[in-house]
Amino acid sequence: MCGIVAYIGKRDVTPILIEGLKRLDYRGYDSAGLVIARDGKLTLRKSAGRIASLESKLDHSLDGSTIGVAHTRWATHGAPTDINAHPHTDQSGRIALVHNGIIENYRTLTRYLESEGVQVESETDTEVLAKLVGHFYEGCLEDAVRKALREVRGTFGIAAISAEEPDKLVAARRGSPLILGIGKEEFLIASDAAAIIQHTANVIYLEDNEVLVVDRDGYKTTNLDATPVTKEVEAIEWTLEQIELGGFSHFMRKEIYEQPEALRTCLRGRLDMDEARVQLGGLAHVARELIKAKRIILTGCGTAWHAALIGEYLIEELARIPCEVEYSSEFRYRNPIVEDGTVLISISQSGETIDTLAALREAKNKGAMALGVVNSVGSTIARETDAGVYLHVGPEIGVASTKAFVGQVTVLAMIAAFLGRRSHLSPAACDQYLRTLATVPDVIEKTLVLDEQCREIAAEYADAGNWLYLGRGLQYPIALEGALKLKEISYIHAEGLPAAEMKHGPIALISEDMPVVILAPRGHWYEKVIGNIEEVRSRGGRVIVVATEGDTEVAKLAEHVLFVPEIDELLAPLVTVVPLQMLAYHAAVLRGCDVDKPRNLAKAVTVE
Ligand code: AGP
Ligand code: GLU
Repeated sequence: MCGIVAYIGKRDVTPILIEGLKRLDYRGYDSAGLVIARDGKLTLRKSAGRIASLESKLDHSLDGSTIGVAHTRWATHGAPTDINAHPHTDQSGRIALVHNGIIENYRTLTRYLESEGVQVESETDTEVLAKLVGHFYEGCLEDAVRKALREVRGTFGIAAISAEEPDKLVAARRGSPLILGIGKEEFLIASDAAAIIQHTANVIYLEDNEVLVVDRDGYKTTNLDATPVTKEVEAIEWTLEQIELGGFSHFMRKEIYEQPEALRTCLRGRLDMDEARVQLGGLAHVARELIKAKRIILTGCGTAWHAALIGEYLIEELARIPCEVEYSSEFRYRNPIVEDGTVLISISQSGETIDTLAALREAKNKGAMALGVVNSVGSTIARETDAGVYLHVGPEIGVASTKAFVGQVTVLAMIAAFLGRRSHLSPAACDQYLRTLATVPDVIEKTLVLDEQCREIAAEYADAGNWLYLGRGLQYPIALEGALKLKEISYIHAEGLPAAEMKHGPIALISEDMPVVILAPRGHWYEKVIGNIEEVRSRGGRVIVVATEGDTEVAKLAEHVLFVPEIDELLAPLVTVVPLQMLAYHAAVLRGCDVDKPRNLAKAVTVE
């Protein structure tokens, strides 16, 4: 989710580290830091903010070192502050470590360390790992790292250095990528080839649970049990620009493809299958009060508002607590009624959307408990809410939200079960629901094969001036989301409607020039939606249906069918949205639009 660069060689290390960090900056980082070793001493510098603020803290005392480790952080645990920035050090201050990923059992490890008299100062999960390495250190960094990592649950890409062994770097990975670049009398370790490519094209890719040790003479790789592993040296063939985009043509496309992995991270450590419960650490301290909620108001803007509509449905269904969805911008100016027992859920990718923030403040002023469903850790909304759940889907760069949307829906789906299980939802029903939720990343992965078919359909209708999107129940917000995606990046006018509303007016628009995207997965709205398809067909509309695999009946009625794998209808929106993202993407590309930076829009809307 963020960046690591480390170097050992003959050149002055600081400029190489800074340059490497800048190469990784395209992901939108929130703090940065570095450590160098010289004369048996480690020197650290770290800073909240962009790499420029780290640079302003550098001075000549760092000159002359030829080994060091640097990091750009994208916070998951603890706000982006100086103290939470990496590197983190062990209890002696003689070992420093940077980390990408999430240490899931950091609370247990903290308690263990505290019982051993070791204090953890920052709010990060990473510092716990640094302290654990220090705890196991007996003169050999790689042994200590292996021992520590054997205790860890979660994901990591790490790079560590010790003042006691100042000519050695130790790195390891599980779930977060790490690459070794092999240059002439120098080595680089990085989370991303972008930081290596200007130095060398020869690399080895670490696999999960492998440990890499690099010194001035060479490198070796082992697994966590110290068994040697032989690695092949490969050549990077991509250009820098391709690497930043991971070979994708746009960030939006990359983020669409990242959705399975992003949701795996979002779900990781949160579904307790043994107990058929959801573990949401960020809500634990308010759970008792939360379950007494008389009313939940969900607010957000744009895509986040669509996620809220799905959240409303799921929370009402599983927890039977009355919910309402409000546009943040409307709520804040409406003198809303906030009675005792009202809980507000603010949904925001950026955590900085001004209307959502103002709605949150309004509700809090009136005495509501406020929860956040936010992606950016330490953002204003995350800070001002009483409790919350982070999406953990990684930075989203494309202005059109894709992976954050599925992250928001997934978190709301977990909140629904979290509340439901404490009230109406039986362990057996919750168990089944959570098992389905756990399959969503794989199901989305299978849905990605629709990409080429979406491109063909988009090519056929890219010149149409108007599109309609229709859905019922849980698919109605997906119709809205599909239409918003198309509008914002392709500039085609599109409208999303509850399918039954069409005959109350919009049906007058239908002609053979009008593509109509209809969401018709199997479920209890299915028969009704088939009726709506007939209505559109009989007026000459061009029907594009999103249906469940194997549904031969619907195929007879539509000009195009995008088949998605079968999944319980409560969670189907997470799957049916994917082809709509791809339709919008291709329509925009075919029309020559700037997909990642559409006109008139900004990623975070911090003005009214
Ligand atoms: C989504 O594609 C849009 N760019 C936009 O609607 C966005 O979802 C909205 O501005 C809310 O942003 P937030 O999630 O950062 O609060
Ligand atoms: N979990 C770590 C933190 O919050 C690392 C986050 C990252 O991958 O940047 O500091």
